Amino acid sequence: MSDPRPNTLDQILETIWTELEIGAAKAKHGFHQPVLATTSSDGTPTARTVVLRKADRRTGVVACHTDARAPKLDHLRTTPIVAWCFYDRALRIQVRATGPVTIHTADAIAQEHWQQSPTRSRRCYLAPATPGTPADAMSLNLPTELRDRDPTVSESEAGRPNFAVLRCTPETLDYLELHHDGHARARFTRTDDAWAGTWIEP
Ligand SMILES: Cc1cc2nc3c(=O)[nH]c(=O)nc-3n(C[C@H](O)[C@H](O)[C@H](O)COP(=O)(O)O)c2cc1C
Repeated sequence: MSDPRPNTLDQILETIWTELEIGAAKAKHGFHQPVLATTSSDGTPTARTVVLRKADRRTGVVACHTDARAPKLDHLRTTPIVAWCFYDRALRIQVRATGPVTIHTADAIAQEHWQQSPTRSRRCYLAPATPGTPADAMSLNLPTELRDRDPTVSESEAGRPNFAVLRCTPETLDYLELHHDGHARARFTRTDDAWAGTWIEP
C-alpha cells in the first residue's frame, strides 16, 4: 500500500493509480467496489455499486463488467459518460472520476475479460430474463440447475452473449484524503496523455 499522506500533486496522482490498480486486484480493498453513475434518458442520474475489474495507469483505463441487457447500457448508448466514486476506509481516501465509456460485447477486449472471468462470476450472465425488467414474483433469475452450484466452463459459455465490459478513460480525477489534522484535496484533468493537477480547498 502506498504512503497514505502524499505531499505533492505528482505523488497524489501516483497514489490514485496505485490504489486503483490494487483495488482492481484485491477484493478487500475499498476501491474494489466503487459506485458507478450513469444518466438515464430522461436525465435522471442513476448510481449503483459495481466491481472494479481493471485499472491501468499506462492506458488510463478503468473497467467493470455488466450484463449487456442491463438498463445502464441504454443510458450509455445515449450518454456515454460515467462518474465513478471510490472510497477506501483504511486509507480514508475518496477518488471520484469522470470520463467517456466504451461498451465491449463482441470484440477482443470483451473476449479477454471473459476468458479471465472464473465460472462463479460468469454464472450471473446466464440469467434467463432481462435484468431490470418486472417479474411476476420474487425471482433469482438463474437457471434452476445452477441455483446451488457454479456452471462448468462449457455451461458458462451460454452467458457469453450477455457479457459486456464497460471501459472508461477518466478525464477528471478528484482526490480527497480525510485526516484529523486537515483534509487534502486535489483535482486532475487529462488532456491527451498528460494529467494536469491543481490543489483544491477541501
Ligand atoms: C457488491 C456489489 C457488486 C456489484 N457488482 C456489479 C458489477 O460488477 N456489474 C454490474 O453490472 N452490477 C453489479 N452489481 C449490481 C448493481 O449494483 C446493479 O444492481 C445492477 O447492475 C443493475 O443496474 P442497472 O439496472 O442500473 O443496469 C453489484 C452490486 C453489489 C451490491
